[in-house]
Amino acid sequence: MMPVMSETFRVTVLPGGEHFDAPAGQTLLLAGLAAGVALPWSCRTGTCRTCIARLLSGRIEHRIPWPGLSCEEKADGFILPCVAEPRSDVTITCGP
Ligand code: FES
Repeated sequence: MMPVMSETFRVTVLPGGEHFDAPAGQTLLLAGLAAGVALPWSCRTGTCRTCIARLLSGRIEHRIPWPGLSCEEKADGFILPCVAEPRSDVTITCGP
């Protein structure tokens, strides 16, 4: 089912507890940076892994079919926020 791109979700970043709103059509990284939250990044194309984070709750969808994550990392909940769009309210923690 296609998400409604104007829908906005709440993103919480642990352990600091910063939070910001992210539209369904925007990446978690860009929404966070626009809100002044200091998230790590470099390539913004899903390859360098600088932005790697773990999804603690909620749902995301990666914009690209094969972001730079192994199957094991995906199964463990790791995501790349530079290419991840929210599909619900989410809680993430940055770092490997
Ligand atoms: S900034 Fe390079 S993978 Fe996200």
